[in-house]
Amino acid sequence: MRVVILKNAEEVSRRAAEIIAGLVKRRPTAVLGLATGSTPLATYGQLIELHRSGQLSFAGVTTFNLDEYVGLPPSHPQSYNFFMHNHLFRHVDISSDRCHVPSGLADNYYEYGRQYEQAIQNAGGIDLQLLGIGSDGHIAFNEPGSSLASRTRLKALTEETRRDNSRFFDSLDEVPKLAVTMGVGTILEARHILLLATGANKAGAVRSFVEGPVTSQITASALQLHPWVTVILDEPAADWLERRQYYVEVEAAQRELETKNQRYYPVTFGTKD
Ligand code: F6R
Repeated sequence: MRVVILKNAEEVSRRAAEIIAGLVKRRPTAVLGLATGSTPLATYGQLIELHRSGQLSFAGVTTFNLDEYVGLPPSHPQSYNFFMHNHLFRHVDISSDRCHVPSGLADNYYEYGRQYEQAIQNAGGIDLQLLGIGSDGHIAFNEPGSSLASRTRLKALTEETRRDNSRFFDSLDEVPKLAVTMGVGTILEARHILLLATGANKAGAVRSFVEGPVTSQITASALQLHPWVTVILDEPAADWLERRQYYVEVEAAQRELETKNQRYYPVTFGTKD
């Protein structure tokens, strides 16, 4: 796991956008796994800027989002479908038939989950999966106790997640109780994973998933089993890491190696090396 600690949330979004843009430039038909929530918002803003300034095209890109609230139609302002259109898709040249956000209105979620997974396979698998992390350690909506082998399915949201997300709704009662979400197993199949965390309220979850045991109680900890994960943190989110100084030294060594054109982490996101 490559742990990169940057000064603030703005630097995190700039670095994340650089990584995503770098992949799309090298591989114009890249398949991106995307997240919603507050964390990736500024990254999407940076990608939009790159597109507007003529430096980046999404014309060949395919996307798959992690999750959606059950019961919210795409027109609902708090649906993740609406979020993605509003904060990314409508601002860039991506083709709408290549943007996949799970449906919050499926009839049969067992069958729907299978179809969503099949669509990911048909697109060739996810090159780069962007993730945030919940304060309870979840990735996507894989709440504590989710199987680390889980696939796209329905999941009940914890009280903690519903409270965290109630800031976007008029009241806690309006926050849906169920979501459809890619599973931990689905996420682990992405070729590269980029997890962003910013703010002091993520420090506990970050410490647990980076340095704690692999456990279904902190589903992000399953990322320890994946060979190519980059975690980009701002200083407040990195504050509880015990080996923080070591990660800074590793990163400095990595940068030094890159100047000599050697590396022990892949920088070619989206390729199979
Ligand atoms: C969203 C998602 C969630 C969020 C997490 C953090 O698609 O999958 O796991 O990444 O809840 O949310 P924010 O960024 O709002 O703190």
